[in-house]
Amino acid sequence: MSCSVELTNLSFKRLDREIFSGVNLRVGHKEKIAVIGPNGCGKTSLLECVAGLEKIGGGEIRLFHKRMESMEDYEPIRGEIGYLLQDADNHFLCPIVEDDIAFSLLAAGINRDEARERTFEMMRGLGIESLRGKVVYHLSGGEKKLAALAGVLIKEPRLLLLDEPTNALDYTYQLQLAEILAGLDKSVIIVSHNQEFIERVVNKIYTLSSNGLIPAADLRLEILHSHDDLPPHTHPHQHLL
Ligand SMILES: Nc1ncnc2c1ncn2[C@@H]1O[C@H](COP(=O)(O)OP(=O)(O)O)[C@@H](O)[C@H]1O
Ligand SMILES: [Mg+2]
Repeated sequence: MSCSVELTNLSFKRLDREIFSGVNLRVGHKEKIAVIGPNGCGKTSLLECVAGLEKIGGGEIRLFHKRMESMEDYEPIRGEIGYLLQDADNHFLCPIVEDDIAFSLLAAGINRDEARERTFEMMRGLGIESLRGKVVYHLSGGEKKLAALAGVLIKEPRLLLLDEPTNALDYTYQLQLAEILAGLDKSVIIVSHNQEFIERVVNKIYTLSSNGLIPAADLRLEILHSHDDLPPHTHPHQHLL
């Protein structure tokens, strides 16, 4: 399989505390997957490792078939990775929404008219064109999340890392965003608690635990199962041994 992301036996520590180990994952080109798990299990840390923002404890990260061993390895592919941070406030560099979304285009030398046009098209695609002239710091949480996403998508990354993209989004926007993401021709890793949303966008869901990623389908099998020697029962349970 042609892969955008391959994680092999990845482990990560913070202040000598192991957050996760034994993480194995393959995300094919243009495949979309999601990672779920309880608060503090390391979902954001995992995305930070993949994006090259944290140093891994052990194992291997390959992006677009190249092994990432140092910050320098990320330099040539920085533009290929679009990372929507859990806290959208950390995205903004300009006080006016439109200028902020256009920032990376202008920085790349694209002329002002083209940048303005592409920014408007991106905002229209996300249904937020009415926010063009607004002050970033006056936006609602959901509006900020979408403005930040516009700033990420406008760089046309091949790999999207989305950390809790539906936080603060109302249900109508969630449905709209799910439709947009499902239609994207990109490799996507979504971290989210929103099961309905991710089921609309991805076809593989993994649960992160301290021992690695478990495919959610296997997890369901493990929890909901029957015994040959007992009458059928459907309540979810697990066996420790
Ligand atoms: N910058 C940081 N410094 C110290 N500890 C952190 C930092 N970020 C996260 N942690 C801790 O690392 C663990 C994993 O955090 P995180 O990856 O944010 O989990 P999740 O996204 O699954 O909620 C948590 O116990 C959290 O408190
Ligand atoms: Mg998190």
